[in-house]
Amino acid sequence: MRAILLAGGAGTRLHPLTLAVSKQLMPVYNKPMVYYPLSTVMQAGLRDVLIVTTPEEGPRFRALLGTGAQWGMAFTYAEQPSPDGLAQAFLIGAAFLQGGPACLVLGDNLFHGTELAALTRACVADPAGATIFGTVVAHPERYGVLALDAAGRVTAIVEKPETPPSHFAVPGLYFYDDTVVTRAHALRPSARGELEITDLHAGYLRDGRLTAHRLGAATTWMDTGTHQSLLEAANFIEAIETRTGLLVGSPEETAFRQGWIDAAQLEALAAPLAKSPYGERLLTLARTGR
Ligand code: TTP
Repeated sequence: MRAILLAGGAGTRLHPLTLAVSKQLMPVYNKPMVYYPLSTVMQAGLRDVLIVTTPEEGPRFRALLGTGAQWGMAFTYAEQPSPDGLAQAFLIGAAFLQGGPACLVLGDNLFHGTELAALTRACVADPAGATIFGTVVAHPERYGVLALDAAGRVTAIVEKPETPPSHFAVPGLYFYDDTVVTRAHALRPSARGELEITDLHAGYLRDGRLTAHRLGAATTWMDTGTHQSLLEAANFIEAIETRTGLLVGSPEETAFRQGWIDAAQLEALAAPLAKSPYGERLLTLARTGR
């Protein structure tokens, strides 16, 4: 399976921060935002990633992420001329996906927890229909929300409902079978002029091919699209990393733990970063394995 990381968009809720720099290059505590969703797809075992950016910011993403080979991965880059919706990812990424199944992750979504890696690996191993997730949030009205029947099956996904049918918001991490590109081609722009991911999911739901895994308190999902949520995410990562001495959302560490790079390669990656605590932590990992 191949993954698409969507890192375009306008980032209007973060203005003026995003007037000259993409949201996904903003810091979340000690690393660029895009490192977090990238680490999530790496934990799912995915190594081929298409990174979709705005035309202006493509060079900056390439400067940061390179070819992926340094992390035992392969990155392809594509530009989205204007932010015409999340489902456009599958039109832009059609050739990259080579007719196969796909994972889509949003470049501003941050996941933390032990539960997700096993679930996402299962999606990669058996991509049947579409799989989405539901995470409990205090304010579901800001997101796409799952409506569930008495048996816990999804009956609908409602975008930003005034009266949310549940507390399960749908985060930006999705898995699809090999029909996704054909389905995306059949979508038409919504009233706001976007190809909506919710419409893609509604199609899978109509066909009885949509699975929604509800995630419990073991998984934290943060969206980093507003000034407040960006600060909250930074504080959250700072608290965890300071308390545990471990890194959250480090592609270098994830590549090492996946066995995609060895200790010598990790040390070589860490050396130029060694003046920062991030680099120090990677050096310790390379030298002690812990
Ligand atoms: P959003 O947060 O919905 O949109 P945005 O990032 O443009 O922000 P704002 O609402 O403040 O203007 O997007 C979610 C993620 O998807 C984010 O990482 C940007 C990305 N995205 C694209 O890459 N292309 C698109 O067409 C859209 C709509 C979003």
